Amino acid sequence: HAFPHPPGRRRVVGDAFAKGTDPTTPVQNMLAVSRDLGPIYEMLALGRKFVFVAGVDLVGELCDDKRFVKTLAPGVHDLRMFVGDGLFTAHTDEPNWRLAHDLLVPAFAKPAMRRYHDVMVETTDELIDVWEEAASDGHRVDVSPWLTKLTLESIARAAFSHTFASFETEEVDPFVTTFVSSMSYAAGRSNLASIPLVGRHLVRRRDRRALERHRYIDDLLQRIVAERKAGGEQVDDLLGRMMDVPVDTAGTMLEAQNVRHQILTLLVAGHETTSGALSFALYHLTREPEVLARVRAELDEVLGTDPTATPTFEQVPKLRYLRRVVDETLRLWPTAPGFARSPRETTVIGADGGAGVPGGLAMTPQDSVLVFIPQLHRDPHVWPDPERFDPDRFLPEHNRARPAHAYKPFGTGERACIGRQFALHEAVIVLAKLLHRFDLTPEPDYRLTITERLTLMPVGFRVGLTRRWGPG
Ligand code: HEM
Repeated sequence: HAFPHPPGRRRVVGDAFAKGTDPTTPVQNMLAVSRDLGPIYEMLALGRKFVFVAGVDLVGELCDDKRFVKTLAPGVHDLRMFVGDGLFTAHTDEPNWRLAHDLLVPAFAKPAMRRYHDVMVETTDELIDVWEEAASDGHRVDVSPWLTKLTLESIARAAFSHTFASFETEEVDPFVTTFVSSMSYAAGRSNLASIPLVGRHLVRRRDRRALERHRYIDDLLQRIVAERKAGGEQVDDLLGRMMDVPVDTAGTMLEAQNVRHQILTLLVAGHETTSGALSFALYHLTREPEVLARVRAELDEVLGTDPTATPTFEQVPKLRYLRRVVDETLRLWPTAPGFARSPRETTVIGADGGAGVPGGLAMTPQDSVLVFIPQLHRDPHVWPDPERFDPDRFLPEHNRARPAHAYKPFGTGERACIGRQFALHEAVIVLAKLLHRFDLTPEPDYRLTITERLTLMPVGFRVGLTRRWGPG
């Protein structure tokens, strides 16, 4: 079936590389043209067809785990060369997915955040020390890279009690640059692979090089596991859980290779998404003085006026308005912008005409569609004046009134984000502490610029820092 598609399609390369579009920003390109394309449309990229869905009703159908299942989008599928059957890249019917999921879910439940609270506070304090110095020297700081260091540190410490010593230098640890380039390589690999002959040859050569790079990462992970074993102590972190807790009553343990896949998965999935969200939140707060004033009023009420105050575990859920700021940020900028679904059995979606096809659209288990979250979150039927940044959309009475699947920043069902509570708890702590301490002044002519790797991230967002309570 042919669906609406973006204007300017070119015969060979398709829609993704239409004249005048920047091939490095597909999400923003789609967002710019998608408004006129309706709830379901297609995009051709180098001979391959992708079907996008963003209408609330169709997304609601796709989110039914009884009828549909997560499938790996092409960029995600290529990550398997590095993270194999780790939670994010596993197929739901691979036994290791269920085993690792059931083992780790309790460690990511809301009450378990008590265990990570101090790590999150400690890493935030380390960032604050760096920013304090910048404030004293009158230097601007580049927000996204610093927040990325912070989120990487907190997941590394929480997952395997490892530090990258991120705040000691401006440089990024080689482990991190290596896995970031591996992941970006894999994410872009599918484009290359679809160019016949030349593309395949290039991919093989580059795959080899990427795998060599990856060996360095795997060696480090093996060393971390070996050191933990040699230490002989049980450590209560995620690595400890995976190494010491059986996955069934027969005493079976997660396979050693799978443990390494999970550690790398948590590092990768756990940091850029969260730091992107934090950076977008700070960006919006510097643009919305009224919202910022309400955040500050709440902080002063809950934390008091000591600039070094830290929210306790119990205070985090009391910062309700700040939490709504995070929710609204992830509405406009869901930093993991899509997820893919396939039917378990041949079925029809949009039977009521919602797919713009009389009688609906038939899908077989070989078909897949991409839920395009940034557009879902701007559906004007559900989100009036969708471009406006308004945290009060997330007041409980509005949450109750919305269709169930209108807001999906963490994906859906059993394959939804395992780190959701971790990300939200961390986001509230970090924003609370930074905003309680500093006034942020962006460069006057800064316009929001977003890079796209697997995630969305503001770039070039630099702010001057002044202490809210004088130099003291
Ligand atoms: C899955 C978003 C933070 C670990 C997902 C999915 C989304 C998502 C949309 C589903 C992907 C799909 O269906 O293909 C986000 C966002 C975050 C965030 C927006 C921050 C604001 C985290 C953190 C961690 C994490 C902090 C780890 C500590 C994972 C894992 C999965 C996942 C392991 C795969 C779960 C499974 O399939 O069993 N995330 N995530 N994420 N996320 Fe997150």
